[in-house]
Amino acid sequence: MPSPDYAEKIPNNVSLADDRRLQRALESWQPNFLTWWETMGPTLPTQDVYLRTAVNVGREGWAQFGHVPMRDYRWGIFLAEPGPDRRIAFGRHKGEPAWQQVPGEYRAELRRLIVIQGDTEPASVEQQRNLGATAPSLYDLRNLFQVNVEEGRHLWAMVYLLHAHFGREGREEAEELLHRNSGSADAPRILGAFNEETPDWLSFFMFTYFTDRDGKYQLGTLKESAFDPLSRTCEFMLKEEAHHMFVGTTGVDRVVERTAQVMVENDTDDVAALGAIPLPVLQKYLNFHYSVSLDLFGGETSTNVANYYTAGLKGRWMEERRKDDHLLDSDSIMVDALLDAGTGEQSIAQTEVSALTGLNTDLRREYIADCAGGVKRWNRILDGAGLPHRLALPHQAFNRKVGAFAGIEASPAGEILTTAEWEQRKSQWLPTDTDKTFVRSLMRPVYERGKIAAWLAPPRNGINGQPFDYDYVHLA
Ligand SMILES: [Fe+2]
Ligand SMILES: [Fe+2]
Repeated sequence: MPSPDYAEKIPNNVSLADDRRLQRALESWQPNFLTWWETMGPTLPTQDVYLRTAVNVGREGWAQFGHVPMRDYRWGIFLAEPGPDRRIAFGRHKGEPAWQQVPGEYRAELRRLIVIQGDTEPASVEQQRNLGATAPSLYDLRNLFQVNVEEGRHLWAMVYLLHAHFGREGREEAEELLHRNSGSADAPRILGAFNEETPDWLSFFMFTYFTDRDGKYQLGTLKESAFDPLSRTCEFMLKEEAHHMFVGTTGVDRVVERTAQVMVENDTDDVAALGAIPLPVLQKYLNFHYSVSLDLFGGETSTNVANYYTAGLKGRWMEERRKDDHLLDSDSIMVDALLDAGTGEQSIAQTEVSALTGLNTDLRREYIADCAGGVKRWNRILDGAGLPHRLALPHQAFNRKVGAFAGIEASPAGEILTTAEWEQRKSQWLPTDTDKTFVRSLMRPVYERGKIAAWLAPPRNGINGQPFDYDYVHLA
């Protein structure tokens, strides 16, 4: 394992200097990346930001903290250390040595998987680019930028794979990753949720909780890949991703905490006039972000995903901890379905399919269980404040645009509604223009050290052992 070379233009632990062709290709992509960062990245002008930079892999000392101008952030290429004699853990090639090169027969599929993952990384930077203008504290501003630069590095990670293993087509795809843009009319990002805007910080916290968490699960399946460079890349990305989860989890914690505090102090549920976010508004934002994130897992059944699994391209969450044959040829799974009894009356039910075609459902279930953990902790905060109110995950059929429930409307409780009923009641469940305008009205920047916006509680701890009132960001 070479030690990362920081004298190089592109920090890396992949011996880039030994492959002049690849190095030149990446060095010619680099200015395009920087142009993208300058035009589509964070809009708030800053001198420098207290950032974590990945400088190595391994358990200890993989990151450095320091104030750096964002444009000079050292986006590097890091793969987790190779396992000794790593073997493929599932599918038809189970037990064979992991692949160091892309097998010709799986070239198109692997490229597609890498492009889809790669497309989400810069998309979220684009979605979040204006948030700096309304940051609730310097601490939060720094966390936003940390997430942004690391999503930029994740783009580098995918572009490296495309350049190193997919020839001319890979280089073309790498260019396209900079040309598609979130919300663009003619060249949008590939997945729906990545074309939604992130207009306020409540959305940002919900996004990093629910949508970044989808990313964690997708990376978890790619980490199992038989294609070892992809596996090791994703393993290292998951390390950074943990902080993104933290930003979402504790972000929502702090909104709930502040709301609960204002409710208790003033003995009222109606905290909007007091500058906090009412729980029903929080619930609507949660409903929205959760439901669009569920869509990211695709349909309940998928033959493509079954084929990816059998071929060894993409495994299950925690594949190696599963106690089965890792082939799944003869297993089955119950998946959500819309049943029609023949009377024209539809009902939400389950149907049995082969475990292989139901793999999207398997992954979505793992994700849902994880999301339930967040709701539990937010409810603990409400409980701790002595409030009877509770937040909840809406039913899986609620507000879905992909999969079995795409064609129906359902309430958060899971009752099927007519279009008229849905139109009449959806403003109770999804953020309305009034809700959004209200939330936006609270979004006024607080750039003073140690100060925080009134709608949000301060964090328990600062970053990397620094206090909350540390000078995390120097504005320009
Ligand atoms: Fe990422
Ligand atoms: Fe992320």
